[in-house]
Amino acid sequence: MDNIILIGYMGCGKTTLGIRLSYHMRIPFVDTDKMIEKNEGREISEIFAQDGEEAFRQMETRTIQTLLQEKARKVISTGGGLPIREENRQLLKQLGTVVWLKAEPETVYERVKGDTRRPLLQCEDPLAKIREMTVARSPYYQEAADVVIQVDGKDFDTIIQEMEGQIR
Ligand code: S3P
Repeated sequence: MDNIILIGYMGCGKTTLGIRLSYHMRIPFVDTDKMIEKNEGREISEIFAQDGEEAFRQMETRTIQTLLQEKARKVISTGGGLPIREENRQLLKQLGTVVWLKAEPETVYERVKGDTRRPLLQCEDPLAKIREMTVARSPYYQEAADVVIQVDGKDFDTIIQEMEGQIR
């Protein structure tokens, strides 16, 4: 399939960039977190609190399986933890071109500080947690990605240009 799938850590710009890219390419945009929230009728934070992270991860896998059944080309933004499961990385490969929006922990921190909707960052020292999770997750993102774009300090137009150059 020829979807464009955006992966990367929370706050790397997947959703904002995905919406821009979908306008630019004139194809629909979907976001796996939003699909799950709509399907469940609950917010991600409620799903984590009520059912736990593992249940949420299973919902993520089911969501990519659903997307694999759809034919229309799309830009797909994913939750930051989705590529961590091996099964999901395999499914992403089938779904289209996977783009890792790679961001330094400081960039992420600036974007997400004060955001209460991300359950994994509700802790004493979010920057330390972001650093730790970035190190732990990078090998998985790298493995899943067809294209890697370093996003720090770049505006969205520049990132889209780079992405198009690399996808072509
Ligand atoms: C998560 C990232 C979130 C959301 C959930 C878990 C993660 O998505 O799926 O809170 O494990 O990194 P965003 O990357 O869109 O914030």
